[in-house]
Amino acid sequence: MKRGIALFMVLALSAIAAVNAFAQGALPVGIVLPTKDEPRWLQDEARFKAALTAAGYNVEILFSQGDSAREKANVEALITKGIKVLIICPHDGTAAAAAANAAHAAGVKVISYDRLIRETASVDYYVTFDSFAVGAAWGQYLVEQAGTKRGNNLYLYAGALSDNNAFIFFEGAWSVLQPKIADGTFIVRNSTEAHNLRAKAKLTREELAKIIGQVTTNWDFSVAKNKAMSDLTKASTSMKGKVFIVAPNDGTARAIADAFAADRRVSQYFITGQDAEVASIQYIINGKQSMTVLKDVRVLVNDAIAAAIAFLKGGTPEKTNSYNNGKADVPAKPSDIVTVTRDNVKAAIVDSGYYPMSYFSGLQ
Ligand code: BGC
Repeated sequence: MKRGIALFMVLALSAIAAVNAFAQGALPVGIVLPTKDEPRWLQDEARFKAALTAAGYNVEILFSQGDSAREKANVEALITKGIKVLIICPHDGTAAAAAANAAHAAGVKVISYDRLIRETASVDYYVTFDSFAVGAAWGQYLVEQAGTKRGNNLYLYAGALSDNNAFIFFEGAWSVLQPKIADGTFIVRNSTEAHNLRAKAKLTREELAKIIGQVTTNWDFSVAKNKAMSDLTKASTSMKGKVFIVAPNDGTARAIADAFAADRRVSQYFITGQDAEVASIQYIINGKQSMTVLKDVRVLVNDAIAAAIAFLKGGTPEKTNSYNNGKADVPAKPSDIVTVTRDNVKAAIVDSGYYPMSYFSGLQ
């Protein structure tokens, strides 16, 4: 844990050094984020503003509000303003190929931010967390809580089909959970697709799409809540009691947790999440959400700015891995993630400087 924090600090400091190497003022860089309606992207906006202000840069940040046409218009507006590097987190990974192509046609370097733009060769770099590790952390946590008992009730929920990350998160979770579903430790209660594929360790994209299509939250709290409530309505008493839930992020986790908590036939639930949203950290402190995955957005933001500056100087950003987007292998540098439970919440969230203690109550 301590090593994780130290690593973040080293990464953050080296990124700041790279950022400072460029002259201060307006950078010919534009940032496009998917929506203000999912708290995760407000974190990114705030962290971008903090990092850019600290380095003395002006960069425009535009939001697409879950609309690919608006996203493309945002990109075109930035191209017209003369940007040389675009940092873009797509609303819909495949639809955003058109925006990436338009940028490339104008000689603009394209950095895919957090979510990978698919089915185009116009992506120069991918700044990301290790999303497979996020899903694997969910699986690991649930497996540890289940112990050696057989027949544990498992409910699966996923992100949006239009988001490439939803596939990688699920793949990571499946890599840990599948052997435990196959050996009877868990029984999937809300996805016939997942249940039918339980003997298969490695799923194709089509198979993943079938499962995700059945259990998607579309990254939407109310979709998540309705889906959980309808799963509970269909479930018999024996499918309740103690339950284990894969929830794909914090917003949907709180919605799903509230639905399960309200069912008097559910005696205990374990539920995952990700993003370390303030509201979910409070849920974890209060015992209403079991875990989250901290993806330190400060690191991602610094990596994105450092990559943009590398391109502006005619160089190439650091590459430790690559991700296939259906058309090309995109160079990337995935960052580490940290599992946060009640046991390490103070060290991971407050002592690391991610959020101040004053944001929370009941934390000692
Ligand atoms: C991000 C998550 C986020 C989700 C919904 C994913 O692509 O990686 O951090 O919770 O989108 O916005």
